[in-house]
Amino acid sequence: MSKPKILITGANGQIGRVLTEELRKLHGQDAVLATDIAKLPVTVEPFEFLDILNHQRLVEIIEDHKITQIYHLAAILSANGEWNPIKTWNINLNGLLSILELARDKKLDKVFFPSTIAVFGNTTPRQNTPQDVPLLPTTVYGMSKATGELWCNYFHQRYGVDVRSLRYPGIIGWQSLPAGGTTDYAVEIFHEALKHGQYECFLSENTRLPMMYMDDAIKATIDLMEADADKIKIRYAYNLAAMSFTPAEIADEIRKHIPDFKITYKPDFRQDIAKTWSETIDDENARVDWDWKPAFDLSSMTDDMLMHLRETIL
Ligand SMILES: NC(=O)c1ccc[n+]([C@@H]2O[C@H](COP(=O)([O-])OP(=O)(O)OC[C@H]3O[C@@H](n4cnc5c(N)ncnc54)[C@H](O)[C@@H]3O)[C@@H](O)[C@H]2O)c1
Repeated sequence: MSKPKILITGANGQIGRVLTEELRKLHGQDAVLATDIAKLPVTVEPFEFLDILNHQRLVEIIEDHKITQIYHLAAILSANGEWNPIKTWNINLNGLLSILELARDKKLDKVFFPSTIAVFGNTTPRQNTPQDVPLLPTTVYGMSKATGELWCNYFHQRYGVDVRSLRYPGIIGWQSLPAGGTTDYAVEIFHEALKHGQYECFLSENTRLPMMYMDDAIKATIDLMEADADKIKIRYAYNLAAMSFTPAEIADEIRKHIPDFKITYKPDFRQDIAKTWSETIDDENARVDWDWKPAFDLSSMTDDMLMHLRETIL
């Protein structure tokens, strides 16, 4: 396989900012083209403005930059998606279909599609959720990702497109802020604990959800994409897990570092979304097929988050 030339969509989002940097460390600055409709205060080149619904622009970028791989992160997330369901469906699903068709037509080497625990719903077993379960998501975001998984599987089976996918849990990192997801509280809580010593949580205290530290999410993504193709047995999306906790448990962990930290609870519409998702995930297939293993648990993540945020936001 020739030297990769990577396109990242949604590169200025919570995950994209960190993934872009890691891929540039791995393959070289010029080998990774960041694209988004949002600009950061400081743009690290190469960057191109790209609305994922602008198919012609996408074609031009793939041709002009001789792209060989795409990490397709652009999406509207679970909570924000509910404000405009049709727009969310359009961006999340039609954006993916454009990418898959171009991957087939331009014979790209690989595509990465991030799925999510939001594909699960009320018919899904919530403890130790197996890989293959009934999916009846309640949000338009979950619907778009569950359908996206099927399209990935279809393009692999029918056209041989090498598309790979993970069902990310809630992602927590110090480098960037989340935007409009149901697990955003688990990042906000650290910022508020350090700045104000208190946090009002939009989920109730015993809402257990699967979560993952950013370092592990980036490692999983790159490991999956670098694995030999014959190891990838699942082409819709792999379950992926690291830790699960409740707002009360993460608050207890933060209090080990900031003893006076106070948390209060004011559940809003995001509570209704969270209660349809899994509490814990069985990711055995990822562990067996391509040796997935997380490095961070709640305690080590909390140490690392507070250490980095003390240096960057205080
Ligand atoms: N962060 C999480 O906890 C989490 C969990 C599960 C799955 N995911 C998935 O991972 C991916 C990245 O998530 P994130 O947290 O970085 O999201 P984010 O909302 O922080 O970033 C998404 C980016 O997509 C861009 N975007 C939106 N509409 C676009 C369009 N029409 N064209 C081009 N770009 C557009 C936004 O400007 C934004 O920078 C998403 O596909 C998301 O569904 C994230």
